[in-house]
Amino acid sequence: MVVFIVKSNTAKTKFLLKDLPGSGKRIDILCRCVNSAFCLSHDIRKDVILYLCFAGKTIKFVGKELKHLTPDERGIAILIRKALEGNPTPGVYVSEKSFQDTLLESGKEIIYLDERGEDISHLKLKKDMCFVLGDHLGFDREDQKILEKIGKKISISPKILHADHCIIVVHNFLDRS
Ligand SMILES: C[S@@+](CC[C@H](N)C(=O)[O-])C[C@H]1O[C@@H](n2cnc3c(N)ncnc32)[C@H](O)[C@@H]1O
Repeated sequence: MVVFIVKSNTAKTKFLLKDLPGSGKRIDILCRCVNSAFCLSHDIRKDVILYLCFAGKTIKFVGKELKHLTPDERGIAILIRKALEGNPTPGVYVSEKSFQDTLLESGKEIIYLDERGEDISHLKLKKDMCFVLGDHLGFDREDQKILEKIGKKISISPKILHADHCIIVVHNFLDRS
């Protein structure tokens, strides 16, 4: 089971479906991460758990339980909204767990993704790892401190990528390993 945790510095729990980036303060990034974590062409990756940490909430998506997940950002935003309103669809869970507690809950080796990290080719890849990603602003100082203590800093490309694209790259490494 591979776990991804995405930490957003800015995303809001209230947003307009017609303006996810503006009204949701970049919640569109999180929606795209849901797509990348789970969506294959005409299938869902069942062996994935994704946590989105933002605005004091943590939303957990469990691949093998997910229903009603569509690949479009708007559809994913609707699932997030339903969960936040206390009406979650199967496989989606909301808590007020902190980012730090979410890292501990994963119970897996923590790999945090950063373009300044050690190249992923030096890492012994296992399917049973937890990959942690930042948003458009990266990790703030406090998150960085926690991650430095408990995780390994790994780079997957010489370029700075979008968080959702990083998830696809990691899946590709794991699919081939
Ligand atoms: C758009 S990037 C963040 C860029 C941000 N301006 C910064 O300086 O950190 C979003 C996240 O994707 C991950 N990321 C982007 N490029 C990466 C790379 N080459 N290797 C590993 N992780 C990367 C990191 O977790 C980063 O926080």
